[in-house]
Amino acid sequence: MIASDSHDLCLVIDFGSQVTQLIARRLREASVFCEIRPYQSVDDALLDDLRPKAVILSGGPASVRDAESPRAPQKVFELGVPVLGICYGQQVMIEQLGGRVEGGHHREFGRAFVEPAGAHREDSIFAGLFGTGREEVWMSHGDRVTDLAPGFEILGKSPNAPYAMIADYDRNFFAVQFHPEVHHTPNGRKLLENFTRLAGFKGDWTMGAYREEAIAKIREQVGDAKVICGLSGGVDSSVAAVLIHEAIGDQLTCVFVDHGLLRLGEAEEVVTMFRDHYNIPLVHADESELFLGELDGVSDPEEKRKTIGRLFIDVFQKHADEIDGAKFLAQGTLYPDVIESVSFSGGPSVTIKSHHNVGGLPEKMGLKLVEPLRELFKDEVRALGRELGLPQSFIGRHPFPGPGLAIRCPGEITREKLEILRQADAVFIDQIRRHGLYDDIWQAFVAILPVRTVGVMGDGRSYDFACALRAVTSVDGMTADYYPFTHEFLGETATRIINEVNGINRVTYDVTSKPPGTIEWE
Ligand code: XMP
Repeated sequence: MIASDSHDLCLVIDFGSQVTQLIARRLREASVFCEIRPYQSVDDALLDDLRPKAVILSGGPASVRDAESPRAPQKVFELGVPVLGICYGQQVMIEQLGGRVEGGHHREFGRAFVEPAGAHREDSIFAGLFGTGREEVWMSHGDRVTDLAPGFEILGKSPNAPYAMIADYDRNFFAVQFHPEVHHTPNGRKLLENFTRLAGFKGDWTMGAYREEAIAKIREQVGDAKVICGLSGGVDSSVAAVLIHEAIGDQLTCVFVDHGLLRLGEAEEVVTMFRDHYNIPLVHADESELFLGELDGVSDPEEKRKTIGRLFIDVFQKHADEIDGAKFLAQGTLYPDVIESVSFSGGPSVTIKSHHNVGGLPEKMGLKLVEPLRELFKDEVRALGRELGLPQSFIGRHPFPGPGLAIRCPGEITREKLEILRQADAVFIDQIRRHGLYDDIWQAFVAILPVRTVGVMGDGRSYDFACALRAVTSVDGMTADYYPFTHEFLGETATRIINEVNGINRVTYDVTSKPPGTIEWE
């Protein structure tokens, strides 16, 4: 599939570096459209099909000196377009063009400084560098180039990388031993921007343009058929729904499964926003009785998750079946979920990450998928949401897990505990918003603990539930640290929760990072 027919494409050939995705991020930030393809899938036919305006060869864990190590199709160097090799990509380039690479006797990991060597030209991708005499860069390599290929000249060197920056100006081939895509190479972004400018990219990858194209594509794909969209209230499915609605109007019906494990006012908020504000046909499937009934007496976390997952699919299918003539299922799948990344071993196996929010359903129901966000990163989805007029308060919301409050209620789930939890959570989030901290925090919530503790309120004894506040910072949810609230904030929040929420008489703050903890309690 060509992701975008009307934008110039920068093709990134992935040799398995752990930071290949960052190349795409930096290019997208420069409004350049790019696609990452694993090296195994790139052949002459694909190059003819994609017609890239420039090619970037990524880093990777292999050694070009190994017999079976990956290469780029030779055609990459015959397309007549600029090519940039990064780390392993540099070595592949030099090896394939007639130079030599040797096992490095001086492995180099982490920060290094590159000094200028040779003549610099203002029209090269290295324009504007070396303003301070040398460039700070991030290196991660064992092998290194020892003999340049014909036509190349050296432009920068570090103590352990004599060919840290090289260029063949006639063919517009550039290569660096370091990683310009990581934040630890402060001018790396500039270097990548220079590369795309020199390749003639117009920088037209904007959300406004994307919106128009995506709408045209959805219309073309769907025709006059009906589409169902599972709405969770999260950012991805919401943006997908609004975009599809803009494309095909009432051919779209959203199904919002309310499992009774949502936060205070959440169901009403979703219904109001989509049904009343956007006029999107919406089935509000209030199935809380079913879910809470089946969860009655269940305290094992895995059993909770499995029960909720199973019911969710059944319920979704039941409601979707009632929508006559539906042929498509819309999902908010994002680009990081669909990139086929080269496995870190560098071997021939390809790990394909695929997320199905309502797993297995499309096949079971004979539905085709509409995934209008599958070319976007998370922050691009937010930008598209803003473009579509979704309020910032909605777009900037913290992530909320599919199993909802069930996994914030360790032990048995009861309606009483859920109600107390909702109230306490609302106070905590209100505190965070009042103090202007909401956007600094990745995720914040309250967990109600399965213990009652003794307290004294007024002149009487209380015997109520304890709760834990959880607030973390994170970039992607994979690792996290607890948020360093001030003691004043914590004290004020505890007082408010105990005063305003009937049923809680003790408040604790969870200061566990991830790892070893997880963000959720179950
Ligand atoms: P953990 O607790 O594993 O959570 O550190 C990491 C991130 O994932 C969210 N999470 C889920 N999201 N379905 C979801 O859609 C789930 O079953 C689920 N479990 C955890 C969690 O809220 C955090 O953002």
